[in-house]
Amino acid sequence: MSKVLIIGAGGVGNVVVQKCAQLPGVFSEIVLASRTVKKCQDIAASLKRPITVEQVDADDAKQVAALVGKHKPQLVVNVALPYQDLPIMDGCLEAGVDYLDTANYEPKDVAKFEYSYQWNYHDRYKDKGIMALLGSGFDPGVTNVYCAYAMKHYYDEINYVDIVDCNAGDHGHPFATNFNPEINIREITQKGRYWENGQWVEIDPMSIHRDINYPEVGPKASYLLYHEELESLAKYIKGLKRIRFWMTFGEQYLTHLRVLQNVGMTRIDPVDYEGHKIVPLQFLKAVLPDPGSLGVNYKGKTSIGVIFDGVKDGQRKQMMIYNVCDHAECYKEVRAQAVSYTTGVPAMIGAKMILEGKWKGKGVFNMEQFDPDPFMADLNLYGLPWKIIEGKTIDN
Ligand SMILES: NC(=O)c1ccc[n+]([C@@H]2O[C@H](COP(=O)([O-])OP(=O)(O)OC[C@H]3O[C@@H](n4cnc5c(N)ncnc54)[C@H](OP(=O)(O)O)[C@@H]3O)[C@@H](O)[C@H]2O)c1
Repeated sequence: MSKVLIIGAGGVGNVVVQKCAQLPGVFSEIVLASRTVKKCQDIAASLKRPITVEQVDADDAKQVAALVGKHKPQLVVNVALPYQDLPIMDGCLEAGVDYLDTANYEPKDVAKFEYSYQWNYHDRYKDKGIMALLGSGFDPGVTNVYCAYAMKHYYDEINYVDIVDCNAGDHGHPFATNFNPEINIREITQKGRYWENGQWVEIDPMSIHRDINYPEVGPKASYLLYHEELESLAKYIKGLKRIRFWMTFGEQYLTHLRVLQNVGMTRIDPVDYEGHKIVPLQFLKAVLPDPGSLGVNYKGKTSIGVIFDGVKDGQRKQMMIYNVCDHAECYKEVRAQAVSYTTGVPAMIGAKMILEGKWKGKGVFNMEQFDPDPFMADLNLYGLPWKIIEGKTIDN
């Protein structure tokens, strides 16, 4: 029986709250706080059990610490934006409470994705006797746990890893992003990067692509991107020679993105507009559909997994672990599309791992550092069942 404080009432926050509310035996009390309290109230009104709602500006560590001090939760789940990671980690440190998030910290003024900012908290968290679990979404998150599971049960060493992320759904809008548009577009428009033979190889944005055959979806054009889990997995996987991340994008999405870039709407530096400073990408976010609202007519599936190539008992072994999720089914269950669902469910399971004491530690941790078995078992129970295809490679 534990109290959890969830910060962020967007698309993902809604799913985390709904899923936690389904498990009163684990999450006996839920506090939901966000910048706009109305969004917390709307989520609270959709639930069958009461929760507490609060307003907080999580850019301010003092406000977070005061909120934690007021409610005394066992755990803070951060599903606000990556910009808030450090102030929320500071607030947890001050209050002495465990922390979990789904995306690594990014400074607002430069699209720089790396764990160093958060790994730097390791000693302070350890000294305080608390833990931080980083990246408990799908990718990062479930993909890291798939890697730990493959390492534990199927391989002596894993040499090649390809994380493959396909959204074959259709939301009916000419252009929309499936999670926070600002974060999403910053991620896609940066340079691509993968890790090979101990080094990072940098490429121009979206300059490497290929068709990948996704389970239950079929072949889709996929683009090599940098994604944050590559950084921690490159550190922890034994025998690794190369790790890459691929994501699908439709022609229509890419054409819109190209135009937006060409006209300067994806810029993240402030520009003068009628005597005010505005950041074009933040303005663009204000006019695009809210990702939380996309679920209503969303059709089709996501198919996300990890393809492994390595060695077991002296024999070469190739396989894939993956999940397929249906947008309309997610909407029926929690009024969310599958991208929010596939992020929110693992955030709930990560929180459950900590509160049940199945994942324990002092310091700052990535998902692959813990025993994957209880997490994998819960994925099957709570909405993200996984399957294995033996012999699967990126080419077949
Ligand atoms: N690991 C994965 O697989 C994965 C996948 C998708 C997304 N994510 C991550 O999940 C997180 C949430 O994404 P989302 O799609 O739910 O985004 P979203 O719909 O934009 O929701 C973000 C929420 O955070 C709130 N917020 C923003 N700044 C705040 C502040 N200073 N103080 C308090 N609350 C604040 C927003 O408040 P307002 O309502 O006032 O704007 C909003 O309710 C992001 O960090 C994203 O990167 C991870």
